[in-house]
Amino acid sequence: MSDKDKILNLLKEVNFPGFTRDIVSFGIVKNIDFKDKKVLLGIELPKEDQEVAKKIAVGINNAFSREGLELPEYEFTVFKKKGETANGTETPNVKLPNISKYLAVASGKGGVGKSTVAVNLAIAFAEKMKNIGLMDADIWGPSIPMMCGINTKPMATKDEKIIPIEKFNIKMMSIGFLLGEEDTVIWRGPMVHGAIKQFIEDVEWEGVDNLIIDLPPGTGDAHLSLIQTVPLSGGVIVTTPQDVALIDVKRGIQMFKKLNVPVLGIIENMSYLQDGDKIIDIFGRGGGKAIADKFEVPFLGEIPIDPEIRKGGDSGQPIVYSNPESETSQAFSKIAERIIENI
Ligand SMILES: Nc1ncnc2c1ncn2[C@@H]1O[C@H](COP(=O)(O)OP(=O)(O)OP(=O)(O)O)[C@@H](O)[C@H]1O
Ligand SMILES: [Mg+2]
Repeated sequence: MSDKDKILNLLKEVNFPGFTRDIVSFGIVKNIDFKDKKVLLGIELPKEDQEVAKKIAVGINNAFSREGLELPEYEFTVFKKKGETANGTETPNVKLPNISKYLAVASGKGGVGKSTVAVNLAIAFAEKMKNIGLMDADIWGPSIPMMCGINTKPMATKDEKIIPIEKFNIKMMSIGFLLGEEDTVIWRGPMVHGAIKQFIEDVEWEGVDNLIIDLPPGTGDAHLSLIQTVPLSGGVIVTTPQDVALIDVKRGIQMFKKLNVPVLGIIENMSYLQDGDKIIDIFGRGGGKAIADKFEVPFLGEIPIDPEIRKGGDSGQPIVYSNPESETSQAFSKIAERIIENI
């Protein structure tokens, strides 16, 4: 084993502050060098944060001390998004709204219930805190208009910003608000980027503190555009328990990790069916938890298969709004609480 590998193994014992994942798998160890007998470490932080840098250095120093090694020297740098200048400020062409947290809901596979989860979680958040926004980043198959029962078109401000539509105490925006039901748009790569950017910049998000973003399935153009446009605070991955869906979870986790977006956790949707006191595991419950453990990301909870969810989604009355006391709504509420704790 080379000296570099030895150091790398040692660094794998150091967790990223606040996470159960180590700094190596987080991808922030950018450089290991040797100068005379000293080790030089290049660490790239996702954002400027002295506290985190300090904690990481303490963790590494402890690991080095345990092995009786001389303490290393550090060079901390900060991850730069495209379009950011050297001093970390955004270039003038990106005018971000005053949103403090951006939370993305993703899945590797389509049809696992991302939009359902995004809408019901947003409502659960709105019951616990003010100023929630919901953005439908699925420009190919926007679901929010139908799920939330919205068929009005948004208005614009004097300076031509789109005013989000407000319902369930949430400010919402979806491409579906602008298009008729029969309209289809063929999106080419640069248009996708433009649309996502416009949804952030040209929408009057004033007053929104926390924006939930419903992503299209998979890991494509829209995801990259979003991550290049806004500083995502975290990503939640929705899956169903079947193996075919779980395989794709890995891709979702890897996408977020590569882009330095913390994975807030995994939600297992359509986990089980409740029939009176009986619980039926149709798709094999527990896969979501197992894969969360495997990748050392939090498991946020299970949502049962509930015909009321589908009915609510089709009728524009999401279950957390129409029947907040139901067991299913409580499951959403608990997951929302866990996310609030973690963020
Ligand atoms: N737990 C559940 N119980 C019953 N029906 C559900 C549940 N979750 C989602 N559904 C239904 O499954 C269908 C697909 O859900 P949804 O549109 O939320 O998936 P999606 O992952 O957003 O899909 P896409 O990948 O196309 O964006 C919807 O009809 C929805 O009402
Ligand atoms: Mg969807």
